[in-house]
Amino acid sequence: MRASRWLVGAVCAVTLVTVQAAEPKSDVWPAVASSVKKDPRLEARIAELLHKMTLQQKVGQMIQADIRSVTPEDVRQYRLGSILNGGGAFPANEKHSKVSDWVALADRFYDASMDTAGGAPAIPIMWGTDAVHGHNNVIGATLFPHNVGLGAAHDPELIRRVGEATAREVAATGIDWTFAPTVAVVQDPRWGRSYESYSERPDIVKAYAGKMVQGLQGIGGSPMFLDGNHIIATAKHYIGDGGTSQGIDRGNNEASEQELFAIHGQGYVTAIEAGVQTVMASYNSWQGVKMHGQRHLLTEVLKNRMGFDGIVVSDWDGVDEVQGCSKDRCAQAINAGLDMIMVPDQWKPFLQNTIEQVQAGDIPMARIDDAVTRILRVKLRAGLFEKGRPSSRPLANKVAELGAPQHRAVAREAVRKSVVLLKNDKCLLPLSAKANVLVAGDGANDIGKQSGGWSISWQGTGNTNADYPGATSIYEGIKTAVTAAGGKATLSPDGSFQVKPDAAVVVFGENPYAEWHGDLKSLQYRGPDGDAPAADINRPAPEVSPQFAEPNYETSPLAPPTAPVADLALLKRLHDKGIPVVTVFLTGRVRGVTPEIEASNAFAVAWLPGTEGGGIADVLFRKSTGAVNFPFSGKLSYAWPRGGAGDVPLFPYGYGLGGCNQH
Ligand code: GLC
Repeated sequence: MRASRWLVGAVCAVTLVTVQAAEPKSDVWPAVASSVKKDPRLEARIAELLHKMTLQQKVGQMIQADIRSVTPEDVRQYRLGSILNGGGAFPANEKHSKVSDWVALADRFYDASMDTAGGAPAIPIMWGTDAVHGHNNVIGATLFPHNVGLGAAHDPELIRRVGEATAREVAATGIDWTFAPTVAVVQDPRWGRSYESYSERPDIVKAYAGKMVQGLQGIGGSPMFLDGNHIIATAKHYIGDGGTSQGIDRGNNEASEQELFAIHGQGYVTAIEAGVQTVMASYNSWQGVKMHGQRHLLTEVLKNRMGFDGIVVSDWDGVDEVQGCSKDRCAQAINAGLDMIMVPDQWKPFLQNTIEQVQAGDIPMARIDDAVTRILRVKLRAGLFEKGRPSSRPLANKVAELGAPQHRAVAREAVRKSVVLLKNDKCLLPLSAKANVLVAGDGANDIGKQSGGWSISWQGTGNTNADYPGATSIYEGIKTAVTAAGGKATLSPDGSFQVKPDAAVVVFGENPYAEWHGDLKSLQYRGPDGDAPAADINRPAPEVSPQFAEPNYETSPLAPPTAPVADLALLKRLHDKGIPVVTVFLTGRVRGVTPEIEASNAFAVAWLPGTEGGGIADVLFRKSTGAVNFPFSGKLSYAWPRGGAGDVPLFPYGYGLGGCNQH
């Protein structure tokens, strides 16, 4: 029985490889020279280690499990190569874990991976996390503006500094690796992950990707590369995540191969040049085939043609969406070129099934050896074999790194530079800091709302301001600025007041969301919880693992259209009382807000600024002398729509007013 199965398996494997081994169009995909060259000494160590390893130990290295579903003892026994804390996962499931709790857990997993009592070689574990706008899973961390805002700053060097600060905060918790940057180039902002993308234009993403990788990992080839102050980076999601039809999350990208590279591939060029050590495969399909099963793009293009020699890691249960696969078995994905499989909870059956698939000839041993070679290469390049226990590393347990003033200063600078001024009638802005200002709207004093998804919890919901120690809400930033100059700021979310103010700053916009929860059918803004449901509202959300089984803190943005928009009514109420109205719009993407813009005297887009809300006041108000404090400098990195989608933009790509200089 086994023999015939082997023969069938071998024929299938060969056929599969033959069919998909189409040579990449060399006039499309470039060879890319990484700044991180192969080191013969490391390559020799890899070969020596590989020779010692059993099949079970090799396949164990290829598995990444979630900390809610794996213990250090499991790692000791099954020799797993990696763990992750998916969105909303914390040590002991405790959201308010301290830095020392994170480091202690890292030590336990590290010790287990280095235990050779059972005869297995010591191969240090690699812990990955989604530090996608700062170390956003950890209480007290600096949360930077999400990528959509950074894209409006048009400042690649700033991006490197954001990465550098993020790396230090992640290293302080004993974690080795972040699943960032996202280098998606969003073509339809109805996608629920648009805020994770820098721009709709490949040139900004190309300019930023390499810089973020350098910030996170250090300059490739330099002594700082993956030293104690840096962490492993990930270019994701390969490839074409931002180009699915109708912006449907995990949908189908129908671009030609030329377009796939020209639009969606540019971030990978500069990320690989900068020496990125991991690439995450994308959930989307390309021309109808799921990326996790695309051997042509994963192996022939990314590895063989572009020369990427690090780890290709799957997304969360991403193999489950490959035809013929399931969460616990997927020879197709491994044969296509995936080196490490993010199998958050089904890791044990996946391990056993994969061993059997190798033994049956469904997966060539050479493919396993290539995957493990890449995993060992990245671990050796990151110095994990030499760095010792996480708690012994230079930044470990340096609590002061989390939310450090110098990190918050970088974040506040990023906030200032990201704000885009779309309207400023009669030079209302910047306001006098001596004014009596009413601060209204449901986003005025809500750090969770100003931070968006991937903030403490996966969806960014279920938190309060108390969960963001050291953070500054937009209201608090305004209050500090005007009080210092002798002015007055009053918080009034519903816009009510006793004494008529000189001006009202009204902060409102999208509520937090992540992934498909944020998909929209129309960009028309009808209130914080989205508008008409996405085209495929009836599309069953992919079967979710514990990571996504969060309490339903809110009705999904895909909920039926909300009531007439309360935000617009608030603007009109204030406007009708003769109060100059400044709107600060919180959003993960461009939206159709023409009525709201018309009801405002000035309209500024703050995107999702993160914990440093003071950066908004920096541009809204003058100095106490009356001089301009910081000029508005943000420029749209997406064209701004007039209404729903696909119409002539209200404001073109690159638009942004500079405020006014006269007093
Ligand atoms: C999610 C996201 C990916 C993230 C991973 C681990 O599904 O698609 O961006 O890195 O899971 O949390």
